[in-house]
Amino acid sequence: MKVLVVGAGGREHALVAQLAQSAAAPELYCAPGNDGIGLQARLLPIAAEDVATLYDFARRESIDLTVVGPEAPLTLGIVDAFQSAGLRIVGPSRAAAALEGSKVFAKQVMRRCGVPTAEAHLCATPGEARQAAARMRAPLVVKADGLAAGKGAIICQDRRQAEEAIRRMMEEREFGAAGERLLVEEFLEGEEASFIALVDGETIAPLAPSQDHKPIGDGDRGPNTGGMGAYAPAPIVTRALAEAAMRQVMQPVVRGMAAAGSPFRGILYAGLMIKEGALRVLEFNVRFGDPEAQVILPLLDGDLLEVLMATAEGRLHTLPLKQRAASAVCVVMASGGYPGAYEKGRAISGLDEAGKVEGVTIYHAGTRRQGAAWLTNGGRVLGVTAVAPTFAEARRRAYAAAHCISWEGAQYRTDIGAKAERAG
Ligand code: AMP
Ligand code: GLY
Repeated sequence: MKVLVVGAGGREHALVAQLAQSAAAPELYCAPGNDGIGLQARLLPIAAEDVATLYDFARRESIDLTVVGPEAPLTLGIVDAFQSAGLRIVGPSRAAAALEGSKVFAKQVMRRCGVPTAEAHLCATPGEARQAAARMRAPLVVKADGLAAGKGAIICQDRRQAEEAIRRMMEEREFGAAGERLLVEEFLEGEEASFIALVDGETIAPLAPSQDHKPIGDGDRGPNTGGMGAYAPAPIVTRALAEAAMRQVMQPVVRGMAAAGSPFRGILYAGLMIKEGALRVLEFNVRFGDPEAQVILPLLDGDLLEVLMATAEGRLHTLPLKQRAASAVCVVMASGGYPGAYEKGRAISGLDEAGKVEGVTIYHAGTRRQGAAWLTNGGRVLGVTAVAPTFAEARRRAYAAAHCISWEGAQYRTDIGAKAERAG
C-alpha cells in the first residue's frame, strides 16, 4: 500500500506519523515535506500546488491513497484531477473546496442552509463596501473573498479603519484577485473553537474539538500567527455544543452541498465563535487545522489509514470512530522575529532529550538536516505535542520537552492549554 501526503508542515508530519502506525504498514511519501518528515516518509521534490506533477507521480507509482494537507491544491482542483484517473484521494472537489476558497460562497451556503453566522454584506465594488461599512455598527470585520494566507480578515474598530481596509483590498489589491469581492461583516464576540470532522459526502464523523492560539504572545497578545499551539478536546465545546455543531452546522451544510450537486468529501473544519452556550460559524476550512491536527490525530483511537480510506471511498458509516480518553497539548516553537521577518539556519539542540519525555511527540514544521545537526528552516519550527490523562499532565510534559529544546531566538507561548487546565 502506497500513501502520499501533500504538504510540508507540522500538520503533514502529524499525518505521516499517524499513518506510519497503521497495521497496513504503508509505504509513505510526502511532497514536498521537510527533513523531519523525511525520517518517516520518502520526500518528493514537488510543491504542494504543483497538481500536474503530483498527478503524474501518483499515476506512475500507482499511489493507493493521497491525503492533502493544505488548502491551495484543493482549491486548484487536485481532487478532481486524481478522481478523473481513478486515483483515491481524501479531500473536496474544487467546487466544494470553495467553502474555504471563497468567503462569499461560504456565506451564501450558510444562509441557504440556515447555519448561524455573522450578518454580512457581500460587496463587489468599493462603493458598495463603503456603504455597507457606513451602515454597520463598529467594530466590524472586512474580509477578502479569496485565500489570503490567513491575513484576509481585518477587524476594524471604526469606520475610518474599515475604509482603509476596503481601500487596501479593493483599490490597492493587496491580496490580488482574492480582494475583488469583500464581506463587510458584523464582529462577533466570544471564544473560538475548531470543530473538525471527516465527511464522505454523506456521513459526518467528528473528531475531538480543539482550540488554536493565534496571537504570538501569552494572554493572546501581539500579532496573529499561523497558530502558536493547540489543545484537544476543548472543554468549551460541551457535549451539548458538539451536538449543536452537528445539527446546526455540519449536517445542514453537508446535505446542502450534496443537494446542490457538489457533495463534500474530505475534512470539514468549522471555525466556531461560542458565546453563552450558543455558537456561530466564523469560517469554514476544507482541511485539518495546523496546529489542530497535531492534537486531534494523536487522540484518534484507531487506524488513521483505515479511516481515511473509508472517507475517500464513501463508507465512513461502516466504521466506529473512537477518540482516546486523554488530553493533548501542542506547543509550537517558532523562530525569533516570527510572525515578522526571521532568520533561518539556526542550530537546534535538545531534540533527542525532549523526545524522551513520556507521551511526547515532536512534529517538525520547518527544519532542515545538515549531517547530524538540525537547523531551523521556517517561522514555525516545531510542534512539541504531549498526550496524557489530564490537561495538567499534558501541559507539564509538553513544556518539559520544550524546555529541553533551544536555538538562538527560539520563542514559544507559555500558556498553551492553560484555559483547558483551569476548566478541567
Ligand atoms: P477568517 O479569515 O474568516 O478565517 O478569520 C480569521 C480570524 O479572524 C478568525 O479566526 C477570528 O479570530 C477573526 N474573525 C473573523 N471573522 C470574525 C467576526 N465576524 N467576528 C470576530 N472575529 C472574526
Ligand atoms: N489553525 C488554523 C488553521 O489551520 O487555519
